[in-house]
Amino acid sequence: MSAVIIDGKKIAADIRAGVAEKVKKLKENGVEPCLAVILVGENPASVSYVTGKRKALAEAGIADRSVNLPESTTEEGLLKIIDELNKDNDVDGILVQLPLPKHIDEDKVLLAIEPSKDVDGFHPVNVGNLMIGRKGFLPCTPHGIIVLLKTIGIETDGKHAVVIGRSNIVGKPVSMLLARKDVNCTVTICHTGTKNMAELTIQADIIVVASGRPHTLTKDMVKDGAVVIDVGVNRIPDSSKKSGFRLTGDCDFYDLVEKTSFITPVPGGVGPMTIAMLMQNTLESACARCLDYSC
Ligand code: GUN
Repeated sequence: MSAVIIDGKKIAADIRAGVAEKVKKLKENGVEPCLAVILVGENPASVSYVTGKRKALAEAGIADRSVNLPESTTEEGLLKIIDELNKDNDVDGILVQLPLPKHIDEDKVLLAIEPSKDVDGFHPVNVGNLMIGRKGFLPCTPHGIIVLLKTIGIETDGKHAVVIGRSNIVGKPVSMLLARKDVNCTVTICHTGTKNMAELTIQADIIVVASGRPHTLTKDMVKDGAVVIDVGVNRIPDSSKKSGFRLTGDCDFYDLVEKTSFITPVPGGVGPMTIAMLMQNTLESACARCLDYSC
């Protein structure tokens, strides 16, 4: 078997085009959607993610109120900026790029963002809403994975999904979304404490790998025809590249292509979906400001 390589870039581009159309309509109704992306420090991966998010904002016609802050920014200083953005009625979404420098308490920062502007879906109110199936912002990467599966038409009803990783950003929320009635998977969560990982993954119809470690999922760990979603973005030193590195996921992609039915590439799989869902969440937040309900 040779897998279909899922074109996350194309699916994300279609979503972003739809968002841009609706942004245009909102603007005609006097509402200009607006997002503030806050970056503290110069972590190269974070700089690259934030650049991608800001480029997408420009393409969607969404106003960009982003701020780049120095590594030395105090927790108090960051909280003050968030407070100002919370109170600013022209701002629909606030995103603080993670990780934050060690001297800043991430929990405190995420709690400070007004839940109705938390387009990342990281505030405990939105996390709780996800848990109990109430309306709220869904975290972008997990939601993007579900949209990918649905857009391609992958059957999920009653399937066994194995998630590798239990982070707050991906592993835990994607597990909850996969178990929801509208997706209806039976979900197993594997993590660093799992002793018999291969015994579990070999049974899986769908595997979501978000371990943050290359070679986490190898050919011997999957059954024929499984669907593999690779969330990993790892920088591997590569002197043949201008940047000095290449990106690789958490899976042995080239081996798995031969055994799986569908697989996401890195880059070009899940990553673009994260950005597309961020644009969609920002649009939805702005829609709440628009009095024309046909928008
Ligand atoms: N760091 C890695 N992924 C994310 C994300 O989706 N949102 C934020 N804010 N930070 C991240």
